[in-house]
Amino acid sequence: MRTIAIMNQKGGVGKTTTSVNLAAGLARQGQRVCLIDLDPQAHSSIHLGIEAAGSPDTIYQVFAGGRTFDQVRQLVKENLWVAPSDLDLAATELELVDAAGREFVLKAALERADAEQQFDYIVMDCPPSLSVLTINALCAASEVIIPLQPHFFALQGLSKLLETTALVTRRLNRRLRVSGILLCLYETGTRLAADVTDDLMRFLQASDPQSPWSQARVFNSRIRRNIKLAEAPSFGQSIFDYAPGSSGSIDYGSLVSEVVSGGIAIPAPLAAAA
Ligand SMILES: Nc1ncnc2c1ncn2[C@@H]1O[C@H](COP(=O)(O)OP(=O)(O)OP(=O)(O)O)[C@@H](O)[C@H]1O
Ligand SMILES: [Mg+2]
Repeated sequence: MRTIAIMNQKGGVGKTTTSVNLAAGLARQGQRVCLIDLDPQAHSSIHLGIEAAGSPDTIYQVFAGGRTFDQVRQLVKENLWVAPSDLDLAATELELVDAAGREFVLKAALERADAEQQFDYIVMDCPPSLSVLTINALCAASEVIIPLQPHFFALQGLSKLLETTALVTRRLNRRLRVSGILLCLYETGTRLAADVTDDLMRFLQASDPQSPWSQARVFNSRIRRNIKLAEAPSFGQSIFDYAPGSSGSIDYGSLVSEVVSGGIAIPAPLAAAA
């Protein structure tokens, strides 16, 4: 099983769009996928047609201890499960503040549910903050994918994000690796997008081989700006169902292939301990 956190503390960069369409695209290829919505905004849940507001069966209940992971995840399409979120999840930060092992609540819940046997992929949509929910995602994950909108300040935010990942790797989850950076909302043919992409590649090439992002690549797939991607959530559908011929569908289809073929190797001793 690969466990992928889709993370960037910056808002509106394409985390949710990527989480939903990556999960849906993997499921269409016959992989058993569970998408965990870790954002109290619940955008991923809504995007796949789940309105969980007020329901006892959300990922909040897993953090609060009232439900098991198996009780909250629901099948939304063949091979695709969602563990939905709702606004209650915003309380988790405060509720866990004094809890011992608060970083590992999700990891422990997945282990108890034997997720390793049930799914081929877990995809986690993180909130736009470095909150306890994001840290839980990083502790449960083996990989991080960072969606990035190519603009002038993108690299500044990225180095902070990579430092956080390095800290989590050192202290909490030795097997965590940044597997890739995904350029979203990409404006084809603009100078700025091309320049930021070049800078990004140079930055990664120059990185310390010991860093958890030393194996990171910029995905060849670029997610172009496409209005169909913005429309799909209001129909409760992934891009593959909503607009199969669109550039959004083509771009996310290409990402799915890259993710499937580019699984990163977990160092053997850590894999055994994981
Ligand atoms: N490639 C794209 N083309 C057009 N619109 C897009 C694209 N990617 C995302 N969007 C739209 O941009 C907005 C922000 O995207 P999204 O919700 O995926 O970002 P996010 O990083 O999850 O945001 P947040 O930080 O608030 O959780 C949404 O309205 C989404 O539909
Ligand atoms: Mg989001």
